[in-house]
Amino acid sequence: MDDTLNTVKGILKKYTQEHLISFYSQLTETQKSNLLNQILNIDFDEILELYNMFNDSDVNPTEEIEPLKYSDKSTLSPSKLKQYYNNGIKTIKAGKVGVITLAGGQGSRLGFKGPKGTFCLDTNPKISLFEILCNYIKGYANKYKINIPWYIMTSTANYFDTINFFEKNDFFNYNRNNIHFFTQANMPIIGIDGKLILSEIYKVHFASNGNGNVFKALKKANLISDMESRKLQWLFIGGIDNVLLDPLDPVFIGYTISCKTQVSSKTLFKEDPSDISWIFAKNNKKIGIAECENFTEQISMLTDKKGNYLYRETNMLAHLFSLNAIKKLSTIKLPYHRAFRKNAFVNEEGMKQVPDSPNIYKFEQFVFDAFSYFNNIALLRVKKDDEFAPIKDFNGPYNPEVAAKKYEELILKK
Ligand code: UTP
Repeated sequence: MDDTLNTVKGILKKYTQEHLISFYSQLTETQKSNLLNQILNIDFDEILELYNMFNDSDVNPTEEIEPLKYSDKSTLSPSKLKQYYNNGIKTIKAGKVGVITLAGGQGSRLGFKGPKGTFCLDTNPKISLFEILCNYIKGYANKYKINIPWYIMTSTANYFDTINFFEKNDFFNYNRNNIHFFTQANMPIIGIDGKLILSEIYKVHFASNGNGNVFKALKKANLISDMESRKLQWLFIGGIDNVLLDPLDPVFIGYTISCKTQVSSKTLFKEDPSDISWIFAKNNKKIGIAECENFTEQISMLTDKKGNYLYRETNMLAHLFSLNAIKKLSTIKLPYHRAFRKNAFVNEEGMKQVPDSPNIYKFEQFVFDAFSYFNNIALLRVKKDDEFAPIKDFNGPYNPEVAAKKYEELILKK
């Protein structure tokens, strides 16, 4: 133990993170050993590099922004719609589509204890977000008498709670062999001074490293082999919290196949031109989300000759990836983004403190960065009223009450 402690002290000194063992003498032997192991497994160089990179104001300036083509689901001709729908159904029936659900977030804005998927809508009867998604999948599986695999990514923190919830609910009467849980990786969170944070006096504070870790996490859990053995061709990737999200929308699947791309995404039209976040575009020829520092309201107002806005397609976290695309992405390290969040921490006196405002940086990879590794993407604009009712917090526009109302109106009463 002494040798390990000395090694750890050396590392912490090198990176000026000595505060992480400030309370070492007060810990039990098990806590001491766990803390040292945690520290030995941290890549301090990577954290330092990220901290410096984001503090450097002129990182990767985008020189050129270009629009991306999209189709609008609501203006497709009835014959096109039928063609996409039929092709989508044919692909689903042939057992070629699987579903990946990103459920590894902290749900910090909602402030709900436990995995967000276990949050229940106040409908009659109450229904959890996991059950809502399962019902969509089960609907197709039962109707066509097929197996549709469902891969659920959790954080290390909510993995067991998620599995227990499924067990307690008998896997919502879906074939248990079709449901796979896997965990994503973590990253330490840091204060604005670059210092790592303790969540307890014996524990460094880690958080999930963003939903973009999904490709590597699938590979690590050996689930890409499972997809191959099931002969899947397409994987839908979506979030956990949009109650109107049908992960097997046949029109979207048929549309993507017709576009002959390896990746596709549903989009929402952004009404407000001053809201310039999460807009699909090409940055320096690479497909992705327009970088805000270059994207102005003026650019947001640009139209083509027919008067269609060039840059109003926003990300709603509903994507289709070919299995080949997933395989390729599982070997690539996606870039990190930095988020400024509010998180409890252990203060200098060893007391847990809950801040009133954001106090830490979190590093996250995003699924949408995967698109930059492909030359084309198929974008399908869908109607917000029909397909988008996520639960993000209690007070904003995306709150549980609105989601429950929409779910009742559009799904339960259908
Ligand atoms: P959000 O960014 O909305 O995060 O994630 P969240 O966890 O739901 O809520 P906040 O931001 O902490 O308040 C969009 C989707 O990506 C998943 C979430 O579970 C959600 O389905 N996600 C997010 C992950 O799977 N892993 C992550 O590390 C982050």
